[in-house]
Parts: sequence; structure tokens; C-alpha cells
Amino acid sequence: MLYNALKLLHVLSIIVWVGGMAFAHFFLRPAAQQLPAAQRVPLMHGVLQRFLGAVGAAVVVVLTTGLAMIGMVSMGGGFAMPWDWMFMSGTGLLMMALYAYLFLSLMARLDAAVASGDWAAGGAVLARIRSVVGVNLLLGTAIVVVVLLW
Ligand code: HEM
Repeated sequence: MLYNALKLLHVLSIIVWVGGMAFAHFFLRPAAQQLPAAQRVPLMHGVLQRFLGAVGAAVVVVLTTGLAMIGMVSMGGGFAMPWDWMFMSGTGLLMMALYAYLFLSLMARLDAAVASGDWAAGGAVLARIRSVVGVNLLLGTAIVVVVLLW
């Protein structure tokens, strides 16, 4: 029961993280591209501030529940981690590193661009954020495919 509750929290957090990236990448950004930079950059800044805050919480839950499940299964001893779990853990840590780069470095640059009203610089940072989110979306999708198919 505890194991299933941990897995539920784990997957709910993944839905927020990966689903939010899919929404931003495929629906919000293409529609926002129609706006002039002076409106688009502050809009995307406001959306990303809120979304990345929620992803920060999701990352904490994914990591703690994932490690707790591994701890529970390995408690009896003689535990060999299945390869799909290894793939999920390694790729998940890579996704978290990319999230940290996005949150700590790119968002700081976007904050500065918005504060100074430099829409060209803001647009350039948004393009970089888009690439990082695209990579994380691919990695997250790959994890879900591997874990659910194997
Ligand atoms: C370092 C981070 C992570 C660790 C340590 C971890 C660990 C785990 C563990 C131990 C399970 C239970 C597997 C089972 O009972 O069969 C699990 C389930 C799952 N994880 Fe992760 N995980 C991590 C990150 C991720 C990420 C980033 C994703 C997706 C983007 C993900 C998606 C899933 C899914 C969909 C399940 C349910 C699989 C099933 O019930 O068949 N995990 N995770």
C-alpha cells in the first residue's frame, strides 16, 4: 500500500512536469509567437515563473519517492536493479540537471531582460529555454515509453 502510494505521487508529479512541458512546447509557445515581443516575452516569463516553481516541487517529489521505492525493494538484500529502473534513474537525474540549468541560469537571464525591457535579449533566452525544454520533453517521454513497455 505504501509502495503504491509512493508510485502514485511519483507518477502524478511526472504528469505535471512532462504534461506541462508538452503544453508549453506544442500549444502555448506557437500561439504566443503571434504576439509582438513586448507582449510575448513578459507573458512567457510569467508562465515560466509559475511553471518552473511547480516543477521544482515535482522534482523533489519524483526524486524522494523514486529513492524511497528503491529503498523499500532493496531492503531484503540481494537486490539487482532492473535495467529499465537504471535507465529511469540516470535519465531522470539528467532531466533534473537540465531543469537546474534552466531555473538557475536561463531564468535569471530572462528576469534581467524583462526587468530592463530588453525584448530582443528576452526572445533569445526564450529560444534557448525552448531547446532545453524540448530535450527534457524527449527524455521524459523516452523514460515513460521504456518503463511502461518493458
Ligand atoms: C532519479 C529519478 C527517478 C527514480 C530514482 C525513479 C524510480 C522509480 C521507481 C523505483 C519506480 C517503481 C517501479 C516499479 O514499481 O515497477 C518508478 C516508477 C515510475 N517512474 Fe520513476 N524514477 C525517477 C524518475 C522518473 C522520471 C523522470 C520519470 C518520467 C519522466 C519516471 C516515470 C516513472 C513511471 C511512469 C513509473 C511507473 C512505472 C510502472 O508502474 O510500471 N520516473 N520510478
